[in-house]
Amino acid sequence: MKIIYCSLLFLLFAACNTVGDDTDQQQQAQINLLKKQLSRSYRPGMGEFMLGIQMHHEKLWFAGQARNWLLADFEIDEIEEAINNIKTYNADRYEVNSISMIEPDIDSVNNAIINKDTAMFRSAYIQLTNTCNGCHFATRHGFNTIKIPDTPPVSDQAFKIQ
Ligand code: HEC
Repeated sequence: MKIIYCSLLFLLFAACNTVGDDTDQQQQAQINLLKKQLSRSYRPGMGEFMLGIQMHHEKLWFAGQARNWLLADFEIDEIEEAINNIKTYNADRYEVNSISMIEPDIDSVNNAIINKDTAMFRSAYIQLTNTCNGCHFATRHGFNTIKIPDTPPVSDQAFKIQ
């Protein structure tokens, strides 16, 4: 009788162990699948973030010129967000080591916006633009020269407060 019990117990134990193995295998398969999906998920490149920054940099100028401080605040926030995204999503690019140089200039633009000061805004914007070029130069992208825009980048958005 004892032997039968023991055998039954052994069988039960073995069965449980097999179930455990199956679950482990299933979990590993799921992890592998997730890893594969993650490696294929879309991650914008640094150049794409820069294109966004370029547009916000242009709009920022016209918003500031029109003393549209809410819009200017929005645009500088978008630039800041894109800079942070570059740090997160393009961490493998060596150029990211230089990106913090723009942060004090973003602060100065923010300051000018808070103070609603056009002269301060103008000089902060020029300094910001110089640093865009400073970083391009430092990262061997000096051929991407940024300047103060002459004309609004789009015609379907009002920069003056309506
Ligand atoms: C890390 C320092 C760094 C800073 C700060 C920086 N850039 Fe760039 N920028 C780069 C690099 C690197 C590239 C090239 C990215 C690539 O490989 O596509 C680039 C590319 C660009 C491009 C070319 C995009 C294209 O595809 O035509 C534009 C436009 C641009 N940046 C605008 C700006 C503006 C505007 C600012 C300032 C508000 C700025 N950048 C600040 C490093 C920087």
